[in-house]
Amino acid sequence: MSHENALVGVKVVIDAGPTYEDIDPVRFLGNRSSGKMGFAIAEACVAEGADVILIAGPVALATPGGVACRVDVRSALQMRDAVMKVIDNADIFIATAAVADWRVAEYSSRKIKKNASGAPVLELVENPDILAEVAARDPRPFVVGFAAETDHVAEHAREKLERKKLDMLAANHVDENIGIGADDNALELIWPGGSETLPRASKSQLAKTLVARIAARYHARKAT
Ligand code: C5P
Repeated sequence: MSHENALVGVKVVIDAGPTYEDIDPVRFLGNRSSGKMGFAIAEACVAEGADVILIAGPVALATPGGVACRVDVRSALQMRDAVMKVIDNADIFIATAAVADWRVAEYSSRKIKKNASGAPVLELVENPDILAEVAARDPRPFVVGFAAETDHVAEHAREKLERKKLDMLAANHVDENIGIGADDNALELIWPGGSETLPRASKSQLAKTLVARIAARYHARKAT
């Protein structure tokens, strides 16, 4: 298959960026994800001819040209709803979003006041795992997850691939200069029965290589 048409006619749903979990009208729980990796992957999928739906958390990024549809969301629950609305028609789902693991149990519609009795205690509840939920569907799209790890990258990634029943997982080592929020990244690609290291490169270069690998494995699985 020649480059730049590996995903013609293939419907790809990508989630990207952080989620913000509101505490009250002025405060939220968030994370350092910039959305750059997910947006670069969307661009690389478009370059391969895919029909791309991009579901974005709060990011300051322009929509890559050629993306068929962008849906902006804020919280994990909104991201889940947006993904589930379009997932039935998807051939490939790429979960790059840094979905908040927890949200506050009870949102306060009024700003929480500082008072003499000290700091408030926030009760947190777990957010749904969007990736695992998509992977558990039958039929399901080809499912690609991401994992940001600070240590034992390969072992944690393999465990995650198996536990969430993914077709492929891209793991990155997070430190201050690489990975979350940075312009460069390096990835350990893992799938059932194999792995490949994609060495440090710009997120846009890395996205092209990653999408080529996803396309190859997607077509290989379809052929079996
Ligand atoms: O388990 P962990 O959060 O490290 O897994 C990361 C992968 O799972 C990413 O692909 C992320 O987009 C996805 N995820 C999700 N919903 C969550 C948490 C993580 O889709 N609530």
